[in-house]
Amino acid sequence: MKQDESARESRPSRRKLLAWAGAAAIGAAGAAAGWKHFSGTVQVKVESFFAAGDGRKKNILVLSGSGRKGGNTELLASAFAKGAREAGHDVHAFNAALDPMRGCMHCGGCWSRNAPCVMDDGFTRLYPLLEQAELLVLCSPLYWYSLSGHLKCAMDRLYPYFQKDRPRSLKVRETMLLMCGQTRLLRSFAGAAETYRQGIGFAGWRDRGRLFATGVDGLGAIAGSSALAEAETMGRGA
Ligand SMILES: Cc1cc2nc3c(=O)[nH]c(=O)nc-3n(C[C@H](O)[C@H](O)[C@H](O)COP(=O)(O)O)c2cc1C
Repeated sequence: MKQDESARESRPSRRKLLAWAGAAAIGAAGAAAGWKHFSGTVQVKVESFFAAGDGRKKNILVLSGSGRKGGNTELLASAFAKGAREAGHDVHAFNAALDPMRGCMHCGGCWSRNAPCVMDDGFTRLYPLLEQAELLVLCSPLYWYSLSGHLKCAMDRLYPYFQKDRPRSLKVRETMLLMCGQTRLLRSFAGAAETYRQGIGFAGWRDRGRLFATGVDGLGAIAGSSALAEAETMGRGA
């Protein structure tokens, strides 16, 4: 056999190549489906703490910070709001990612223009809701092991309400925190939980509950998980 003929014989036939390509495609689809199944169901872990309310109807502001419509934070916030509305509470929602605001500039202009802040942005729409709220529910995706920047900017803008000479104060007395993240580890939420703990300690607000859902990354991956049922229960007991 000549050298070029032997090379031709050891080369896979067209039929073999097609068969291998088909097998590879089926394998890849199977692996992807398997991963999707795994990430969509098995990994979602929820850690929550919740102290039931006194049964009094209250004004609740659900303040969230995720830009994804139909995303996991939005689903958590909606589940909480559904439970709270069903229990008769007066619930308002504001998404600081969709009506965004800058962080505090520490300019010292608080209350100088008949408003808490001199900047005119999403906070102009947020503060009337904040001033009515008795329970503030913070909802955020885990971003860089912390609250999302959208929510953090909103929190920073509370600064005028902690000025000594403020003409108006917040009525907020209690807070809750609802978060979700891609991580499989509950400890990845520790930084955000500590920010929340110290922040509400400074403000003199009472922690009424926290919920952390791991293993959710895709748009709406949290749907059908126990996290939403738990958020709804927290809302009902608010
Ligand atoms: C900018 C950015 C930072 C993120 N940082 C983290 C992180 O530190 N840890 C984590 O587990 N997931 C992280 N994620 C993933 C999100 O927490 C996760 O996809 C979450 O479910 C998104 O919620 P959403 O559907 O409301 O947007 C990050 C996502 C983005 C876009």
